[in-house]
Amino acid sequence: MFNELPAEKAYRILESGPIVLVATRDADGRANLMTMGFHMMVQHDPPLVGAIIGPWDHSHHALSDTGECVLAVPTVDLAETVVDIGNCSGDALDKFAHFGLTPASAQTVEAPLVRECWANLECRVADDGWVRRYNLWVLEVQRVWIDTARKETRLIHHQGDGLFSVDGDTLDLGARMTKWRDLMG
Ligand SMILES: Cc1cc2nc3c(=O)[nH]c(=O)nc-3n(C[C@H](O)[C@H](O)[C@H](O)COP(=O)(O)O)c2cc1C
Repeated sequence: MFNELPAEKAYRILESGPIVLVATRDADGRANLMTMGFHMMVQHDPPLVGAIIGPWDHSHHALSDTGECVLAVPTVDLAETVVDIGNCSGDALDKFAHFGLTPASAQTVEAPLVRECWANLECRVADDGWVRRYNLWVLEVQRVWIDTARKETRLIHHQGDGLFSVDGDTLDLGARMTKWRDLMG
């Protein structure tokens, strides 16, 4: 017996990965952060990520002006901060200072890494052809940094409407991935 959910709630079922912070530096050099739940891997190599960043976000304009961002992946200890970052605008607020986060230099982009996050992915816009229609940016990952010293590594997943799940057990089924052996590192 199934109960129907409104179709526009599909995002609650197909949540697309850990919630991330998008770090940008605008044309005036001001660093900013936003929260993003709608993203997906598009291709392995070159590594492409689809990211929904709408014109209601200050970050959208920084991305359009510079073509660069960092996807910073927070762990569960930052959950409340992550929600708060997604509920205010970088137009009027220095979010790094306000939320006590530390910008660090990236290697290939001017946008900053976030020191307190477990992973940071330096990205450049590879294709903006879908932005006008869907606010969909195709980003190419340039560099990936992992904080291997971090004890807390549980990521958080937005199920929608402020409800999150937290990473739990992992299952290693690598031995069964026989068709995809070449892609596994
Ligand atoms: C949990 C959560 C997930 C969000 N996901 C997205 C998203 O996928 N795309 C988007 O454009 N905005 C998303 N937002 C909204 C932006 O984070 C929000 O508009 C933010 O204030 C933008 O900051 P900015 O104006 O400084 O760029 C999300 C917010 C929250 C709290």
